[in-house]
Amino acid sequence: MTQSPPAAQTVLDAAILAARAAGRLMSGHRHRTKRVNDATRHDIKLELDVRCQRLITRVLTASHPGIPVLGEEASHEEATRAPSRWVVDPIDGTVNFAHGIPHAAVSIALQVRETPRTAGYADGYATVAGVVFDPFCEELFTAVRGGPARLNGRRIRVSERPLSEAVLSLGFSGRPGSVPSMVRDVRRLSPRVRKLRIMGSAALALAYVAAGRFDAYVERGIRLWDIAAGGLIIESAGGRFERKEIGSDGRIALTASNGRAGRALRRWL
Ligand code: IPD
Repeated sequence: MTQSPPAAQTVLDAAILAARAAGRLMSGHRHRTKRVNDATRHDIKLELDVRCQRLITRVLTASHPGIPVLGEEASHEEATRAPSRWVVDPIDGTVNFAHGIPHAAVSIALQVRETPRTAGYADGYATVAGVVFDPFCEELFTAVRGGPARLNGRRIRVSERPLSEAVLSLGFSGRPGSVPSMVRDVRRLSPRVRKLRIMGSAALALAYVAAGRFDAYVERGIRLWDIAAGGLIIESAGGRFERKEIGSDGRIALTASNGRAGRALRRWL
């Protein structure tokens, strides 16, 4: 797997195809009972997560053989050193989906390894194309690095609202020990914004910031596959995507915003 990175637009087309295929599978199972493969205190793994990721991998590999996948459900070993890789969350918002709450999405990014490291992640990879697809609202958010962010083909921009007027979305990672910091964030932030929201899909929250629906999104302890696509979409929509690796298991502390609200937020986090 030593190919050089392909053109961003061609990978975007493949990612859209794969996201739509997985989205159809999700929609088809919306009202059916879902088989749970595994459950922890705050999380669920569905059999359908695995099926969606297999389907996505098949579609991506058919159009771009040789690019490995780093995914929530499984990863190719080469994905930590290949020149490019797909980063896939087959169902972001799994708990929503499992409970029949139609707020979940497919998230697919293409990342390339860059030396020297520029605007990328700590392991040297940067996102060059990203797709977040909500099959229940039929909303497709996309971006290619250097171009605009789009929703169903139309350009989108972040809002200009200040923190005091912001709808601030919070993520609850569910990792051990995350409840106290979450409660502290709610205490500190709720008096300073118009509304707080905890919707349960980080990928969609990022897409909503890009579209100016939310003004910021904060989560401590999120994983790369939840945010790789949405992060590029926010930046391409004029927003800020600030992250810091925390701990040794690849968890990330994230503040994504329209820029204006984010600057004010930093004081309270
Ligand atoms: C989760 C969702 C949730 C976020 C968690 C993620 P999953 O992803 O994005 O909103 O708060 O940190 O793990 O498990 O549904 O793919």
